[in-house]
Amino acid sequence: MPFSRVIGTGGYLPEKVLTNADLAKLIDTSDEWIVSMTGISQRHVAAENESTSMLAEQAARRAIESAGISVESIDLIIVATTTPDQVFPATACLLQDKLNLHNGCAAFDIQAVCTGFVYALGVADKFIRTGGATRALVIGAETFTRIIDWTDRRTCVLFGDGAGAMILEAADEPGIISTHLHADGKYRELLHVPAGVSTAYDDVLNGEAYLEMQGSEVFKFAVNALGKTVDETLAANNMDQSEIDWLVPHQANIRIINALAKKLNMPRERVVITVNRHGNTSAASVPLAFDEAVRDGRIQRGQTVLLEAFGGGFTWGSALVKY
Ligand code: COA
Repeated sequence: MPFSRVIGTGGYLPEKVLTNADLAKLIDTSDEWIVSMTGISQRHVAAENESTSMLAEQAARRAIESAGISVESIDLIIVATTTPDQVFPATACLLQDKLNLHNGCAAFDIQAVCTGFVYALGVADKFIRTGGATRALVIGAETFTRIIDWTDRRTCVLFGDGAGAMILEAADEPGIISTHLHADGKYRELLHVPAGVSTAYDDVLNGEAYLEMQGSEVFKFAVNALGKTVDETLAANNMDQSEIDWLVPHQANIRIINALAKKLNMPRERVVITVNRHGNTSAASVPLAFDEAVRDGRIQRGQTVLLEAFGGGFTWGSALVKY
């Protein structure tokens, strides 16, 4: 059975930057509060005419270029998003058309909120290992700022927009060493948008379908669940934490990242951090951070990288990758 390995990465952030100072003009907050509680200084916000598939296209093109492959050679597209362009078709199909890829390859979305990219990576890896695909485009893309209540200071300071991509290819050696995906719907109301197509659709039509969160409950559960997932990942591969070269965590809050880095005994310079500049871009956060660290030369070929994420559902998971 083949493995899958990462042959290219890409990322895209919308041009508009919203700083903490900008937010302090809109709501009762301060740069000091946001930085000390979350580590976030700014986030990017998609332009009004910019959709999730448009962000995804930019990230995809950069990943395709870095892999040095032709678009036509891609035989699977998975887009992780909670903020699709439309109810249907899937954002992955819209992206397929934008890429002018008409070879009939499977294209679908995955919705696991902030864990979406790790889920998509796990699914793409399984497709490749079982012979269902040989070259997969895997993307996390979000216009999360569209589902934010900009009058709610407890949530609006946290999120941003963006897209990150990876190209996976069948290979004789890993690549993706293992993925570990989890969910527990019991916690669904602690982090959710309580409206959708078949529930409270009027709220969606009226533009009142916003993210709601019990912040401190989410914080506690995330630290605990991610800690257990790290243990699970290391145990599954009979590895010691000292064998991990890089931690690429979901970028939700610097305090959650620090708690996890401490558990792993990872020095700060071995943890890829973008939350200060990107905020929480949900499914885009892990691939954006991974791409940044590959492009600036921190993550090198042959190194072992631990990706992890946590999100609404609750969902959580990890991927251990030999780059
Ligand atoms: N600016 C200023 N004050 C704010 C604020 C803001 N942006 N947001 C909240 N506050 C205030 C609250 O109103 C509250 O004031 P009060 O005591 O007078 O009512 C106080 O700060 C504490 O609020 P609370 O929500 O209890 O703070 P917290 O310690 O839970 O920290 C978070 C808030 C959001 C930073 C923290 O809960 C968190 O990061 N949770 C995880 C969120 C997350 O990562 N979600 C995505 C997961 S994928």
